[in-house]
Amino acid sequence: MAPAPLPRGHACLRALPLVVALALARLLPGHAAAQQADEARLLLRIKRAWGDPPALASWGAAASHCNWTYVAFDAAGRVSSLALALPNVTLAGAMLPDDIGGLAGLAVLDLFNTSVGGGFPAFLYNCTGIARVDLSNNRLAGELPADIGRLGGSLTYLALGYNNFNGAIPAALSKLTNLIYLALNGNQLTGTIPPELGLLVNLETIKLENNLFGAGTLPESFKNLTKLTTVWLANCNLGGEFPSYVTRMTEMVWLDLSMNGFTGSIPTEIWNLQKLQYLYLYINNLSGEIAINGPIGAASLLEVDLSDNQLSGPIPESFGSLLQLVPELAPEQSRRRDTAEHCPTAVLKIPVAVEQ
Ligand SMILES: *[C@@H]1O[C@H](CO)[C@@H](O)[C@H](O)[C@H]1NC(C)=O
Ligand SMILES: *[C@@H]1O[C@H](CO)[C@@H](O)[C@H](O)[C@H]1NC(C)=O
Ligand SMILES: *[C@@H]1O[C@H](CO)[C@@H](O)[C@H](O)[C@H]1NC(C)=O
Ligand SMILES: *[C@@H]1O[C@H](CO)[C@@H](O)[C@H](O)[C@H]1NC(C)=O
Ligand SMILES: *[C@@H]1O[C@H](CO)[C@@H](O)[C@H](O)[C@H]1NC(C)=O
Ligand SMILES: *[C@@H]1O[C@H](CO)[C@@H](O)[C@H](O)[C@H]1NC(C)=O
Repeated sequence: MAPAPLPRGHACLRALPLVVALALARLLPGHAAAQQADEARLLLRIKRAWGDPPALASWGAAASHCNWTYVAFDAAGRVSSLALALPNVTLAGAMLPDDIGGLAGLAVLDLFNTSVGGGFPAFLYNCTGIARVDLSNNRLAGELPADIGRLGGSLTYLALGYNNFNGAIPAALSKLTNLIYLALNGNQLTGTIPPELGLLVNLETIKLENNLFGAGTLPESFKNLTKLTTVWLANCNLGGEFPSYVTRMTEMVWLDLSMNGFTGSIPTEIWNLQKLQYLYLYINNLSGEIAINGPIGAASLLEVDLSDNQLSGPIPESFGSLLQLVPELAPEQSRRRDTAEHCPTAVLKIPVAVEQ
């Protein structure tokens, strides 16, 4: 007797033991059941490739893969999310298996800080609805491929920071035009920042700091990235005139251009960015006075570090109106960008040796 067809839109074969689901898969080729059994099988292979970590004990043990931990499903019952970014989950250097690419409905892959290794996850080209990829703080290595644009138009969030990727940033990243979040920081990337990234006009966050870039400038095309709120470009070997167009990025909250070789003066208009909370320009070659015309507009400022430049002149009176800032002039104390979010005491750092 053939089993009754499943109700339409039934998200997952909740009540069915895996063996029954697998049997159904053979009886009802093409049906959602077959697809779900295939995906259950893929998940078990992925688990094996990861060395059967204790955190995934429920995979295979719970009767239906709908109940397996760290997996979520879409309305059609396909795996839509694989998210293991939790404390205590470690894959202990296991590789990213290509089998993940068989999960055609995957929208979210989050393996943050799981010690997973391997190369760039080109298998995700198969997952045409992939929207969010977080593989940061892992052991991935190798080059970012020239066809990285195949990750597709659904991708909004790409976090590959703190791995061992090397080579240049591929220009084809610019094809991912819906990207809102891009983090490639803390790798061994070389070359310079490609001007094509200026085409990613939806970007709100860009993090490229702490790589091995050669000497370059911030591409002029970046002036089109007017939605930016968070810019981490510390230690990117950038020189040339300070990119004054950042003063037109009115959504800016966090601007870190520290530890580069920018020259010229700090544009007056920067002190009118109303949403700006963190401004790090320390260790550059900025010169001239800190000029503020009238009352300061950047009333949200929490931390300002301008130390180790060639700035001159007096500390502007208007800094006194920034009630949230606690002036702390000792130069050594505040290289703490990484912990600033958790840092309750705000800091103003300006050059100690101010010439009158
Ligand atoms: C699966 O999880 C649901 C809740 O999400 C629970 O009601 C059900 O008992 C679980 N089934 C099994 C077989 O573990
Ligand atoms: C992580 O492991 C510790 C010690 O084994 C345990 O106390 C804690 O509950 C675990 N946390 C989670 C989220 O599983
Ligand atoms: C990607 O899809 C193609 C065709 O659908 C399939 O042959 C291939 O095995 C898939 N690759 C991965 C890595 O899943
Ligand atoms: C990464 O996980 C390890 C434990 O596996 C933990 O000690 C460390 O704090 C985590 N790092 C981050 C940035 O969450
Ligand atoms: C900024 O975008 C406009 C409109 O898309 C384009 O014409 C212009 O060339 C871009 N500017 C730069 C510097 O890329
Ligand atoms: C600043 O300029 C001087 C002289 O041009 C140069 O020696 C120094 O390396 C520069 N500093 C930075 C941080 O680029």
